[in-house]
Amino acid sequence: MCGIIGIVGNSPATPRLIESLKRLEYRGYDSAGVAAQVDGVLERRRAPGKLKALEEALEHQPLHATTGIGHTRWATHGAPTERNAHPHIAGRVAIVHNGIIENFADLKAELQAKGRVFSSDTDTEVVAHLIDQNLVEGAAPLDAFSAAIKRLSGAYALCVLIGGETEMIFATRNGPPLVVGYGDGEMFIGSDALAVGPFTNRVLYLEDGDYAAVDHKGARIFDSSGSEVSRPIKTVASSAALMEKGNYRHFMEKEIHDQPEGGQRTIAAYVDPISERTTVSGDIDWASLERIQIVACGTSYIAGVIGKYLIEQYADLPVDVEVASEFRYREPSIRPSALAIAMSQSGETADTLAALRYCQAKGMKSAVIVNTTESTMAREVDVVWPIHCGPEIGVASTKAFTAQVSVLTAIAIAAARARGRIDAAEEQRMVRILLEAPRLIAESIQLEEAVRGIAVEIAKARDVLYLGRGPMSALALEGALKLKEISYIHAEGYAAGELKHGPIALVDEKTPIIILAPFDSYYEKSASNMSEVMARGGQVVFITDHEGARHAPAGARVVMTAPSCDPLIAPLVMSAPIQLLAYHVAVQKGADVDQPRNLAKSVTVE
Ligand code: AGP
Repeated sequence: MCGIIGIVGNSPATPRLIESLKRLEYRGYDSAGVAAQVDGVLERRRAPGKLKALEEALEHQPLHATTGIGHTRWATHGAPTERNAHPHIAGRVAIVHNGIIENFADLKAELQAKGRVFSSDTDTEVVAHLIDQNLVEGAAPLDAFSAAIKRLSGAYALCVLIGGETEMIFATRNGPPLVVGYGDGEMFIGSDALAVGPFTNRVLYLEDGDYAAVDHKGARIFDSSGSEVSRPIKTVASSAALMEKGNYRHFMEKEIHDQPEGGQRTIAAYVDPISERTTVSGDIDWASLERIQIVACGTSYIAGVIGKYLIEQYADLPVDVEVASEFRYREPSIRPSALAIAMSQSGETADTLAALRYCQAKGMKSAVIVNTTESTMAREVDVVWPIHCGPEIGVASTKAFTAQVSVLTAIAIAAARARGRIDAAEEQRMVRILLEAPRLIAESIQLEEAVRGIAVEIAKARDVLYLGRGPMSALALEGALKLKEISYIHAEGYAAGELKHGPIALVDEKTPIIILAPFDSYYEKSASNMSEVMARGGQVVFITDHEGARHAPAGARVVMTAPSCDPLIAPLVMSAPIQLLAYHVAVQKGADVDQPRNLAKSVTVE
């Protein structure tokens, strides 16, 4: 969740640390800090709040050094105050940390018994003391570091600066990712390739348990047993340009508008527009596959639910979808012959990664539908199905969601064909429909003006109800999640058929009810639900298509007409209005769209 950067450089470190932290803010943004060694003495600047506050602190009190470490925080232990902000310093040791040290309380008690005084409420500070205690007891820096990390349990990525070792930093990972960047006579440590992206595109991915000693000349890497090892250095694509907002006010707004292009790139990787056949890679025997197990969190989970609807309907292939945090702990009944599919934008979500590893340990073949192809999940699975929507920066996932659904749609077609549920002509017809999705998503984005209008009213609501049937019931969950996370309005998504089993009690004239109902086989039922809600004074926003609008019962507060399309791609086409609605409600409320409170883009702690 937190972002880490370390630099052993040849030019002033602090502007570069800040530049990198800006790229890492998506991981957490409740406080930030940097530390460096100035004339042999460790110094740090820290500030609660957004990075801007740290920049101001550095303006008042600059730090002149070429080697340093930096951190942007998403609080786990201890409130987001200056005293809890990283780096933490104990004696000669400054440290930044992403993750949770689970045995920190025992270690802290032990260190306090030795007279050590703690100055924060964090789990992290204990590691700084542990290393410093080893130094005080006479260990050399590398030994002090490696002995300390052997005593840790939990999930951690750490970057450490030791006073006196001016030109050296130490790093390790166990769980959360960490890369070593190779520059020209300079070296870097970062939470991911984006963090070191302004300085180098040559990176080495530390493996779990690895630790590294890094100086100007390079890095010595050791595995968990302490043996020096060599790991490959990879050249990663430079994605700097894709991280700009362009003319948009927020990344989320840009990313909603990016969807037609991102969708096109993604779909082109899974179908051949000439032969109109699917080209899903991975050597999966769809014909004899008995079951798919999807594991994911948040919006990626919801994409998985839509995948279930599509794959079961078109390919008659059973799909179980489960929230990864439940799946990993509840001892689920596993079929080793099933295919495990993890869905993850980041490829680093701790619960999804653990659920994926659980499936692998039970003998299942594994795949991931992922945006970050250098991520841990992508490196650990048998099959990688990338989405090609470009880096997603806004905390609220938008373009990754539609790209994930696009891949699942291609999989549904491929599996349907392989299992004899459709013939070649039908496969071609479905591929043609999927190829139309980017154009129709672009048309759907044209609803923005209408959405902006209704957003003014929805921004006043305390509660919102989203309803839909079939795949639209999953999209209702996504609409509610988007609204909650960026506009802080309480919203619930429901299968419309469940209305009478409870949620209808919420209906009054103050609760907007958003119904997603394209003109498909569920339409009549959704329209009836709309009438039932209106009969009880409910204010309905009816999001449908042209035919649906023609048949809509009178009395809706607003009817929004998305482009008509085949049900196969309706989840893709209907996504834009719900994303835009959340976006404009959040803007209307003056909320921090790209960095909503309490959230982080990459959830690397469970
Ligand atoms: C989406 O808007 C959320 N911010 C969140 O639910 C996200 O989808 C979830 O944390 C999973 O992330 P992942 O796709 O990177 O695994």
